[in-house]
Amino acid sequence: MKRIGILTSGGDAPGMNACIRAAVRVAMANEIEIIGVKRGYTGLITGEMPLLSRNDVSNIIHTGGSILESSRCPEFEKAEGRKKAFDNLTKNGIEGLILIGGDGTFRGGALLAEENPISIIGVPGTIDNDVYGTDFTIGFDTAVNCAIEAIDRIRDTARTFERAFFVEVMGHHTGFIALHVGMAGGADSLVIPEQPLDIEATCNRLQEGRRLGKTSSIVVVAEAEKPGFSYKIAEEVAGKTGLETRVCVLGHVQRGGSPTVNDRVLGTELGATAVQALMDGVTGKMVGIIGSTITYTDLRDTWEKKKELSPRLRQLIQQLW
Ligand code: F6P
Repeated sequence: MKRIGILTSGGDAPGMNACIRAAVRVAMANEIEIIGVKRGYTGLITGEMPLLSRNDVSNIIHTGGSILESSRCPEFEKAEGRKKAFDNLTKNGIEGLILIGGDGTFRGGALLAEENPISIIGVPGTIDNDVYGTDFTIGFDTAVNCAIEAIDRIRDTARTFERAFFVEVMGHHTGFIALHVGMAGGADSLVIPEQPLDIEATCNRLQEGRRLGKTSSIVVVAEAEKPGFSYKIAEEVAGKTGLETRVCVLGHVQRGGSPTVNDRVLGTELGATAVQALMDGVTGKMVGIIGSTITYTDLRDTWEKKKELSPRLRQLIQQLW
């Protein structure tokens, strides 16, 4: 393999730059040229794909976002769009492609590889951690640490006013962020898509806390369908309990900032592994880490199989209210 491409697609996640840097450095060490496709699949279609040099990836390991930028590209969902993308890959002599993103990114990539002779390797990069085939996705650790910092601050004002705060975290349709943040932030209650919302139970728990002497409460809510979901819950809880409630939607703050050590190391390892996989002739797989082992999962399995929240953590948090 003489020339490979790399892109980031879908929601950006801190640690993606560490991953790009590692891929570039390892490719160059093996005399492979590496092309940076701009703005995800959009750049594949428009042909925006400059050659990356050592210097292009200097001084980026500590930065959030993606130097390659990202997009959600509806045109790539159609066969015509993918054909245009493949033509541009051929024109640029790209034989293998590294896709850093989540399940949406891998769906598009799998179709591209099924329809065309191109080698594809996926790298799990999303703050949501909802990708089957890896313990952690790049960006998750930074996102939960960001949310925890916010909750620690909110605690100060919640305690001062004896309020019940509903802190809404990201996570799309999954509660990975909410569960970790709820546990590490000492939440009084959790609202996650994996469990039907039970307003009565939430009210009872908060009231029981007050009866036992708590003077403030923190409820962590996963955004679920769309951001702002927690306003309705907070209003209902206020109506039923008489507690003074407030909402804080953390939103995209969780997607930015300098990646944690864990995300830098994970991004670096997976970026390097992706290049090695292409050199070894692997295709149609996502690289991941389970326990301390590097794994290769069929791209299709990354969205067809469901990664479950840790039953151990879910059970434990019930005993901590
Ligand atoms: O997938 C990452 C994520 O941040 C989700 O948690 C969230 O639901 C979504 O992206 C937001 O997407 P956008 O940035 O396009 O609004």
